[in-house]
Amino acid sequence: MFEEFERVNTWETQDKFKAEWPTIELMGRNSLVAVHGKAHTQVHNFVTNAINRPDALNRIVALVQPRMVAALQSWAQMDKIKARFETQKMTFENIGKLFFSKEPGPFLHSLDKLYQDLLLGVRAYPINIPGFAYHHALQCRRKLDDFFWIEIDNRKNKDKVETIDLMDGLMQIEDDDGDKLSDKEVVDNIVSLVAAGYLSTSLASTWAIYLLAKYPIVLKKA
Ligand code: HEM
Repeated sequence: MFEEFERVNTWETQDKFKAEWPTIELMGRNSLVAVHGKAHTQVHNFVTNAINRPDALNRIVALVQPRMVAALQSWAQMDKIKARFETQKMTFENIGKLFFSKEPGPFLHSLDKLYQDLLLGVRAYPINIPGFAYHHALQCRRKLDDFFWIEIDNRKNKDKVETIDLMDGLMQIEDDDGDKLSDKEVVDNIVSLVAAGYLSTSLASTWAIYLLAKYPIVLKKA
């Protein structure tokens, strides 16, 4: 039985057991969560390097830590906060900066809302009729597409790249033959990476804050 389990879980059978998001249209057919094989590995390796290597983590911490301290200080001034939602807002502001270089403000807030509604559609029944979560999520996806397509154009028209964020990185990665991702691949991947990195990070941070507050002895050691 163990051998059978191992056989089923090896690369040999990966074409038969494809991991896919339930509503792939929302993430995009060219996203790494939808593609397999070489195309998947290429973007996967890029993302791992961009967010997991020590130099990348140092850069991310340098940006995120002061923002987190400022947020904690501002929450301390408030009577009562809904920690989950405050943390979510802060997380999206960090993502805005690290992934596509946007500062907090009304525009970023409207993108945040589009993402929240997009994510509500991901595990909803894929019923594309007005009034259903999936239909609304598809509309949000189209608006996000508009934003990222304009962003690609703006970046292409710039003489030189001043900021290296995740989106610039996606526009620059090359495969073994020197080919870059198409614009559509960049858009699908930036949309889905924000989606993958948003609530995951925000909920992990919420739990960290909650547990540190509950166990001050651990907080003291930090
Ligand atoms: C604390 C934060 C995070 C947690 C707890 C988390 C958790 C996970 C888990 C459990 C999976 C596997 C899902 C599965 O196979 O069904 C996954 C996959 C993935 N995550 Fe995260 N994640 C976090 C942050 C991020 C961030 C910041 C990004 C993007 C920048 C990201 C991008 C992805 C991607 C692209 C995949 C799919 C990988 C692939 O199929 O090769 N995640 N994550």
